[in-house]
Amino acid sequence: MILLRILSLFFITLANSDLLEFDDSSNEVCLICICNMDKTSVDCSRRGLTDVPEGIHTKVKKLNMSNNEIFSFPKNLKRLNNLNSLDLSGNQLSEIPEEAFNNLTALEVLNLSRNHFESWLQINPNEVLQPMTNLKILDLSFNKFGTMGNLANQELLISPSLETLILDNCEIESVHGRSPLSGLINIRVFKLNNNPLIGFQNLISPTLKSLYVSNCRLSYISPNELSYLPSLVYLKMSHNYRLELSSTVNSLFSVSLRYLDISYCNINQPSLKGFPNLRKAIINHNMIRFLSSNEFNNNTKLEHLDLSYNNVASVMGDTFRGLTSLKFLDLSWNQIAHIPENSLVEMPALTQIKLARNYLTRVGHLKSTSLAIIDMSSCEINLLGKDSLEGLPSLVDLDLSHNLISSIPESISSNTLKYLNLNYNRLSSVNNFTFFMLPRLTGLGVIGNRFTTIWSRFYFLSNPYLERLDLSDNLWRCDCEDENMFDFYEYVTLEPNKKEESYSLICHSPNNVVGQTWLEACYFTWNPSERGPNPNNLVWFIIVMIVGLALCLLLINGIKSSMNRRLATIQAERERQIEAARDRLRQIRLRAEQEALVNTPDPRDLIAPPTYDEALSMPKLNVSCHSLNETGSGKGRRKRGRRKTKSSGDLLEETERDIQESELELTEVPDDRRRRRRRRSKKYGSHEIAEYDQSPGVRRRLMSDHGTVDDSVIVQVEAELENPVHSRNRRHSVDEVPTESNF
Ligand SMILES: *[C@@H]1O[C@H](CO)[C@@H](O)[C@H](O)[C@H]1NC(C)=O
Ligand SMILES: *[C@@H]1O[C@H](CO)[C@@H](O)[C@H](O)[C@H]1NC(C)=O
Ligand SMILES: *[C@@H]1O[C@H](CO)[C@@H](O)[C@H](O)[C@H]1NC(C)=O
Ligand SMILES: *[C@@H]1O[C@H](CO)[C@@H](O)[C@H](O)[C@H]1NC(C)=O
Ligand SMILES: *[C@@H]1O[C@H](CO)[C@@H](O)[C@H](O)[C@H]1NC(C)=O
Repeated sequence: MILLRILSLFFITLANSDLLEFDDSSNEVCLICICNMDKTSVDCSRRGLTDVPEGIHTKVKKLNMSNNEIFSFPKNLKRLNNLNSLDLSGNQLSEIPEEAFNNLTALEVLNLSRNHFESWLQINPNEVLQPMTNLKILDLSFNKFGTMGNLANQELLISPSLETLILDNCEIESVHGRSPLSGLINIRVFKLNNNPLIGFQNLISPTLKSLYVSNCRLSYISPNELSYLPSLVYLKMSHNYRLELSSTVNSLFSVSLRYLDISYCNINQPSLKGFPNLRKAIINHNMIRFLSSNEFNNNTKLEHLDLSYNNVASVMGDTFRGLTSLKFLDLSWNQIAHIPENSLVEMPALTQIKLARNYLTRVGHLKSTSLAIIDMSSCEINLLGKDSLEGLPSLVDLDLSHNLISSIPESISSNTLKYLNLNYNRLSSVNNFTFFMLPRLTGLGVIGNRFTTIWSRFYFLSNPYLERLDLSDNLWRCDCEDENMFDFYEYVTLEPNKKEESYSLICHSPNNVVGQTWLEACYFTWNPSERGPNPNNLVWFIIVMIVGLALCLLLINGIKSSMNRRLATIQAERERQIEAARDRLRQIRLRAEQEALVNTPDPRDLIAPPTYDEALSMPKLNVSCHSLNETGSGKGRRKRGRRKTKSSGDLLEETERDIQESELELTEVPDDRRRRRRRRSKKYGSHEIAEYDQSPGVRRRLMSDHGTVDDSVIVQVEAELENPVHSRNRRHSVDEVPTESNF
C-alpha cells in the first residue's frame, strides 16, 4: 500500500517535472531559496551564498540574491534570459565583467547597491549595461565611486534604455567632465542624495525630469546650469546647508521646472523669477529676511509657496503681485509684524494663508475675495477689529488661538465664517450681539479664556448651524440658583444638538465647587425632586433601622422564652418521670415488703443461740424489758437501744431482746429495704445484729473501723430474709433510679 503511494507520488513528480521542463536541480534550488508558486520568483537573499545556485530555471523572472557573500560576479546568470528583476545588493562585488549581463535582455531592474565598487572602470560602464536592452532602473547606491565623471568617455555609463539611475550615498564629490549623462539617452530620474557633492557641472540631459541632490554640500550652482536640463520638472535640493541661490540678475532659471524644494538651505532670497512654470516651491527653513516688491511676479503658475521658518520681517504691499495662481501661502514662523491691507488682493486664487508664529499685533483689515482659511495663531494679536473680517467675503475658518485678544467686538460680521478658534486668549465676556452677525457659525472655540459668567443660549439666537462649542478651561462661576445656567447647560450638552462634552464644563468658583463639573456642582439644585427626599431618606433609613432592631430584639426574646418554655416542660416531664419512678419504687418496695413478710425465715433460725459461756460473757441488760418495747417504736430509739444491748450480758434478757429484735427487724425490713449485715465477733463470742447504712462508702468505712480496732472477722450474712427474686428486683430498682441522663 505504502509502496504504491510512494510509487504514484514518484510518477506524479516525474510527470510534473516533465511537464514543466524543470531542470534536475530546480527543486534543489527551492530547498535553499524561497520560490513562489510557479517558481518565477526566487528569493535567495540572506543565504550566505557565494554564487547564484545552479539549476535556477530559465523562466525565473525575479531573482533576489541580496545580502549574500558573492565576491565575483556570478557567471550562470546568462541563461536566465527571462529575468526581469535582479537584486544583487548587499554583496561583496567590486567588479563586473564586460559580458556579465549578456542575454539578460528582459532585465528591467538591476540592484547593485551596497557592494564594493570603487571605480567606474571596474564595472565596464561603456559596455556592461548595453545587452540589457530593457533596463529601466539601476541602483548603485552605497558604493564608493567617489566621482561621477566622464574622462575621455571611459567612465561613461551607457544604456539606451535606462530611465532611473540611483547614486545615493556613493561618496561622490563632483559631477564633472563632458556630460556624464550623455550615455543615458533615456534618463528620466537621477538621484545623487547624500553625497559630499560640492557642485555639479555640465549635467546635460535633454530627457532628465527629476534631479535629487538633497543633503549634499552644494553651495553654488551656476545660473545657467539648469538650462542644460530642458526637461527638468522636479528639483529637490533640500538640506544643502550652504546653498545660496544667486539673487542677482543671473539667477538660476528653468522654464520647465514645476517643483522646487530648497528647504533647509541657506537661501536669503526666494529667487524664483527664473522659474516661470513653477507650481510648488518649498523654501522653508532658510534665511530669507525680507520679501521685496514684485518678488514673485514671474511665478504666475505658482500654486503652493512655503516660506515658513524664515526670518521674513516685512512684506510689501506688492510682494505677492503676480502670484495669480497661488492657492496656499505659508508664512508661519517668521517675524512679520504687519501684513499690508492690499497685499493679499494680488493673489486672487489664494484660499489658505498661514501666518502663525509671527509678530502680528492685530488682525487688521485683510482683503481677499478668495481667502477661506486664515491661521493667525500664536501671534501677539490683541485686537480684533469690528470690521476685520469684512474684506474677507470667502472666509470660512479663522484661527486666532494663542493670542492676546481680550474682547470680541460686537457684531463682528461674516456671512461665510464657520469656524472661529479663539482658544487661549484673554476673553472674558461675550453678549447677545457678539455672534449675532456670524450666521454660518458652526464651530466656536474659547478654551482657555477668562470667562466667569455663564453664557446664555440667547447669544446664539442667530447661529442656527452651531454644532461645536469648546468652553473648557475657563473660570466659570457656578451659580446654580441662576436658571440661566441650567438653561445654557442644557443648550450645550443636550442631545441631539450637543455642542460640548459635559465633563469639559468645570466650575472655578465659588470655593465649594472648584474643580467640579457644572453638573456635579448643581446636580441637586437642578434636580430638586432628587435632592428633596434625601434628608427624608435619612430619616426613613433611621426609622427602618430602629424598627428592624426592635424586631430583631423581639425575635430574640421570643426564641429565648420559647426555649425557656421548652426547658420548663422538659423539667416538668423529668420531675413527673422521677415522681413516677418513685411511685414505682414505692410499689416495688411494698410488694417486696409483703413478699418478705411471707418468705422471711425466723431470724432465730439463722442465728444460733449463744452458748452458755457466751451468754455469760454477754453484758448485762441494764434496762428493763419494758423499755425494750418502747425502743421498738422508733428507728433512732431502736438504734440507741441496740447499742445499749451491746453492753448487756444477760442471756435471758439477750434472748428476749433477740426476739424483740427479730420482731423489730421484721417490721423494719419493708421500711428501709436494705441489706442487713450480721456480724459475729468471734473474740467475744457475742453476736450482734447490726444494721448498716446500705451506702457502700459508709459500709466500707464502718467495716474498716471494725477491722482495725477490733480485728474482728466480719461475717456477712447475706440476708436470707430476701429471696433471690426480690433481691434482683431490689437491685434492679436501686440501680434503675432514674437519672437525669435518662431524659
Ligand atoms: C530581496 O530581499 C530583501 C530581504 O533580504 C528585501 O529587502 C528586498 O526588498 C528584496 N528585493 C526585491 C527586489 O524584492
Ligand atoms: C542566451 O539565451 C538563449 C535563449 O534565449 C540561449 O539559447 C543561449 O544559450 C543563451 N546564451 C548563453 C551564453 O547562455
Ligand atoms: C536595492 O536594494 C536596497 C537594499 O539593499 C534597497 O534599499 C533599494 O530600495 C533597492 N533598490 C531598488 C531600486 O529597488
Ligand atoms: C519671467 O518668465 C518669462 C517666461 O514666462 C521669462 O522669459 C523671463 O526671463 C522671466 N523673467 C526673469 C526675470 O527671469
Ligand atoms: C439677550 O437676549 C435675550 C432674549 O432676546 C434677552 O432676554 C436678554 O435680556 C438679552 N440680554 C441683554 C444683555 O441684552
